Amino acid sequence: MPTFDVVTAPLASAETAFIAVSAFAPASGERTDPPELGPDTEAIATALGMDLLAELRALDFDGSVGSTARVPTRGALPAATLVVVGVGTRADAGTTQLRRAAAAVAAAAERVSSVALALHTALPGIDASDAAQAVAEGLLLGSYRFTSFQSDPRPFELERVVLHVDDATEERVRRAVDVAAVTAGAATLARDLVNTPPQAKRPPALADRVVAEVAELPIAARVLDEQALIDGGYGGILGVGQGSSEPPRLVELTYAPEGATRHVALVGKGITFDTGGISLKPSTSMETMKMDMGGAATVLATIKGAAALELPVRVTALLALAENMPSGTATRVSDVLTIKDGTTVEVINTDAEGRLVMADALVHASELEPDAIVDVATLTGAATVALGDRISALLASDDDLAEAILAAGAAAGEPVWRLPLASEEYGERVEGAIADLKNSGGREAGTIFAALFLHHFVGEDIPWAHLDIAGTAWAGEAHDEISKGGTGVPVRTLLRWLSD
Ligand code: BES
Ligand code: MN
Ligand code: ZN
Repeated sequence: MPTFDVVTAPLASAETAFIAVSAFAPASGERTDPPELGPDTEAIATALGMDLLAELRALDFDGSVGSTARVPTRGALPAATLVVVGVGTRADAGTTQLRRAAAAVAAAAERVSSVALALHTALPGIDASDAAQAVAEGLLLGSYRFTSFQSDPRPFELERVVLHVDDATEERVRRAVDVAAVTAGAATLARDLVNTPPQAKRPPALADRVVAEVAELPIAARVLDEQALIDGGYGGILGVGQGSSEPPRLVELTYAPEGATRHVALVGKGITFDTGGISLKPSTSMETMKMDMGGAATVLATIKGAAALELPVRVTALLALAENMPSGTATRVSDVLTIKDGTTVEVINTDAEGRLVMADALVHASELEPDAIVDVATLTGAATVALGDRISALLASDDDLAEAILAAGAAAGEPVWRLPLASEEYGERVEGAIADLKNSGGREAGTIFAALFLHHFVGEDIPWAHLDIAGTAWAGEAHDEISKGGTGVPVRTLLRWLSD
């Protein structure tokens, strides 16, 4: 990942390989109208001594978010190439657009070692710190590559980013860039873990990796192995894990800074590979199922980020790790499992395994009596059907908590949409005929059914929110700051929420 320098010199003097400036799309929204140069761009155009607008029009540059044009400086500036990046119309430009534009700059600078840019501090209504954080996140996340398993990797060559700012904002920009290094670094860890092949992250090995990840930070780690899970009555995690030759684990991480005023428990689904079990998935549905531990990766990355940012919040992170495999020892369809709180569940479908491991972890979380529980899970294909791969589903028992997470998602550039928990309408559907509950209720409203099932295991009176990231934890194609494969969503949202 590139490192940042913050300087107050004029951008035109930058001695980096590239310099990047921004431009707005025409306010009219008409592609035929010329884009509008950003305030930082006028000075560069003058130094170049060219009609930059005419040049951009010739290059078919329209200023839309993330569009880029390269203009050679032909010796007029120390930097050989000027990259102009679009941030959309002036009216729409916000931190999300800046983050996306910065990722486009990173993509354009893939083969050079350094780039300089002027921070676009002139966007009305956007604070310089927020702008700086968004730009730095875009550059960092946009230059992500997962190369650990390649024999001849071709990583990003971009090593250094120089941010040109004015005296008034210099200090705040420095601080914002430091925050961005943490948030983007945390999202990068989540991406790495999701992208890791499933044979390299089977539950005991992943638990070890998690413990190693927090070793240098003020985070305590406790791993419940299979004996501890048996002793504690974690029948959901054990039932899901029993088909695998590697046993399940529950990892509990605690960050308890002095003077913390609230305690938040984060619970993550950590199915290291989801074959569906005896209710085996078709092969194409299985292709991306190494991502089924995206929730666990998220809560690990978030607690690490919270500790690195020294946030004054007590955080407990629970990672429910199991491998869902079909075998002679696997849970059968119609077996009954007993969750940690004594609730019995008939397993209608062994592919609805996430809610079974989450049930135990939510009971464990509730026993800690936190002020709020937020769980994160790649839980239902139905979330993808409803909202696609760019919007996470949120279901919550508490309106204030839901509003706060929606706002954090919007600020972080990770869209979240709330679905109703609908206890009145569908609450009875989770009730079982043979056991207390059943783990599947058919195709209709699958995301709501799963959330209602989870809600059963959350302590009464504990505000609870559930993020279903089945659609968003993985990207089939790269776009904006999102790389192909693991996305790191919703780590930035949770860190934002914990910071507020
Ligand atoms: N891990 C899957 C959900 C999923 C699907 C995540 C697609 C990412 C992309 C989950 O364990 C699952 O299989 N859910 C079933 C539940 C059903 C059997 C009630 C589903 O959504 O089909
Ligand atoms: Mn499944
Ligand atoms: Zn799953």
